Amino acid sequence: MKGSDKVIEILNEVLAAEILAIIQYESHHYHAEETLALKRLGEMFHETSEKEMKHMEDLSERIHFLEGLPTTKLLGKPAPVGDAKAMVEANIELEYDAIKRLNRGIKLCCDEGDNGSRALLESILKDEEDHADEFEDVRDLIDSLGKHYLATLVEKKP
Ligand SMILES: [Fe+2]
Ligand SMILES: [Fe+2]
Repeated sequence: MKGSDKVIEILNEVLAAEILAIIQYESHHYHAEETLALKRLGEMFHETSEKEMKHMEDLSERIHFLEGLPTTKLLGKPAPVGDAKAMVEANIELEYDAIKRLNRGIKLCCDEGDNGSRALLESILKDEEDHADEFEDVRDLIDSLGKHYLATLVEKKP
C-alpha cells in the first residue's frame, strides 16, 4: 500500500532516532556494567534498548508496508559515556527529544489521514514517556540518596 511521502519521511526520522538510541543505550550499558560496576544500571539501559529495538523493527515494517525504504542513518551523535548521573541525564534528554518528534509525527499522520501510522507512533510515544519517567526516577534518587542509592545498582535484579 503506497503511503504518503511526508509520512514515510517522519517514520524514517523516528527510525533514525531509534537507531541512535540503541547505539547510545548499548554503549551506556557496557560502560555502566564494565567500567562503573553498576550492573543494575547497565541492565536498565539494556532493557530500554531492547524496547527501542522493537520500535526499530515495527517502524521498518511499517515503512516497507507503505512501499518506502527504511533508513540506516543515525539521527545525530550518541551522548558520550560518563558517570551514572550524566548518562541518565543524557538519556532523559534523548527521550524528551523522541517525545517531541513523536507528537509532531502523530499530528502529521492525522493531517495526512494515515491512522495506521498514527496508531504506531502513539504506541511508541507511550513507551518513550515511560522511559523518560523511569530515568527521571533514577536521576531523582541519585540526587536525593547519592552513593547509598548507587550501591543498590551494583547487583542485577534478582
Ligand atoms: Fe523507541
Ligand atoms: Fe525510549
